[in-house]
Amino acid sequence: MKKIFKIIALTLLAALLIIQFIRPDKNESGYESIAYFENETKPNDQIKAILKSNCYDCHSNQTIYPWYAEIAPVSYWLADHIEHGREHFNVSDWEQYSNKKKDHKLEELVEEVEEGEMPLNSYTWTHGSLNDQDKEVLIQWAKDLRTKYSASQ
Ligand code: HEC
Repeated sequence: MKKIFKIIALTLLAALLIIQFIRPDKNESGYESIAYFENETKPNDQIKAILKSNCYDCHSNQTIYPWYAEIAPVSYWLADHIEHGREHFNVSDWEQYSNKKKDHKLEELVEEVEEGEMPLNSYTWTHGSLNDQDKEVLIQWAKDLRTKYSASQ
């Protein structure tokens, strides 16, 4: 019986070692990809900082990876969040969004931030969550922008 456990433990360890060699592609195209979005939506410095340290990691083409992103299977889990986040809302694709889509994404942003759904919980455990004042500023900015996009639909 003891031998079986040893074999299982060694097999798991070997599997863990092997998966370290399978590395997901990194999302690191640089912050230049955000320039169009920031030019158009004109966040002030405070909002820029909020977006950069709470949202861009999953909603732009530039992620700042923590050290544990190097370790499988955590690396797969993070890559999955980043892929999904960008699929739904990617500021690096802002130029391609229609005004209607921009308005809709901002509507979602207000909702998600108001309800505390964004940033994802798994992210706030390690990065800290948005404080009430940051939330308020972000929401007001998105609401103001919505009037611009909904007027030009
Ligand atoms: C750890 C990754 C991660 C972070 C950080 C993050 N998001 Fe998300 N976000 C996601 C994922 C994954 C989804 C899609 C699934 C879902 O809605 O839960 C999503 C969905 C969204 C959506 C909905 C888009 C739609 O069309 O339904 C909005 C808006 C959004 N996020 C805004 C934000 C904002 C604003 C921040 C920062 C305050 C943020 N997110 C931080 C991963 C993240």
